[in-house]
Amino acid sequence: MANNQYTWFDGKYIPTEEAKVSILTHSLQYGSGIFEGIRAYDTPKGPAIFRLQDHIKRFFDTAKIYRINLKFTRAEIEKATTELLRRNKLADAYIRPFAFYNSVGIGFSTEGKPISVTISAVPFGSLFGDKKELRCKISSWHRINSSILPAGAKASGNYINSILASKEAKDSGYDEAILFSNSGKTLAEGPGENIFIVKNGILITPPESADILIGITRDTVIQIAKAKGIMVIERDIRREEMYTCDEAFFSGTAAGITSIISVDSVDIGDGKKGPITSKIATEYKMIVSGKDHSHSGWLTFVK
Ligand SMILES: Cc1ncc(COP(=O)(O)O)c(C=O)c1O
Repeated sequence: MANNQYTWFDGKYIPTEEAKVSILTHSLQYGSGIFEGIRAYDTPKGPAIFRLQDHIKRFFDTAKIYRINLKFTRAEIEKATTELLRRNKLADAYIRPFAFYNSVGIGFSTEGKPISVTISAVPFGSLFGDKKELRCKISSWHRINSSILPAGAKASGNYINSILASKEAKDSGYDEAILFSNSGKTLAEGPGENIFIVKNGILITPPESADILIGITRDTVIQIAKAKGIMVIERDIRREEMYTCDEAFFSGTAAGITSIISVDSVDIGDGKKGPITSKIATEYKMIVSGKDHSHSGWLTFVK
């Protein structure tokens, strides 16, 4: 039996096949939905959701930016997320809280239109499937910036930009894109991942001002690195620095920690996953799977 039998829809757990909307739904037509992406992992103490409170906080922050009243409290959404996982008997899963204008018709005005809130959960492995090492292309598309769309919010419409960049990279034979920030001089992130480079043993990642989404995995990486005595600097990264760094990787809820071994067909370091990337990826896996207890507060157990 499928592990996504139920969807939480405006406070009720309903069969997933009944969680449907009209083709003319506002948020489908105009990209006006907002969402989160959360992971759960199997642990020795049963399934656990990683950094649930931080994800739900970001969901509510996005709602605030878009002036969306979610009608539920953060505690209610956290509880519903946990209960949904339990009902669907999921362990390794991807969880998608989503809020959208659930009204049918033509016209992008949101005035007086009802908001629906849903939570879906599906079994999930890895965003890049079997690919453990990525060949990336710096995109001709720049990342959205906050004078056009709030780059720090997780809104559906933002991902049209991500889709363009990712498609361009894949159509050109690469695994994934890296986007410039809006300056066009320095890099922002991947279409759905933050980026890190390693140079002379120091971890470097673009700052908030580079129009990035402030990733929860990015924060996790920074905390892991600091605990391991690895210096972390948040600063702009120029394109040429990507080519000459020693190691590079993506971080993200769906992507995990995924090594980047070449950019624009230039090998990063010796073209293999590097030692600092491996160290951080190993620790990340230990934490999310409940085998390292140094950050057990980040896990919300389902049972
Ligand atoms: C554009 C973008 N950047 C970065 C990330 C990584 O963020 P997180 O680690 O919170 O999943 C995501 C994924 O949510 C994303 O969509």
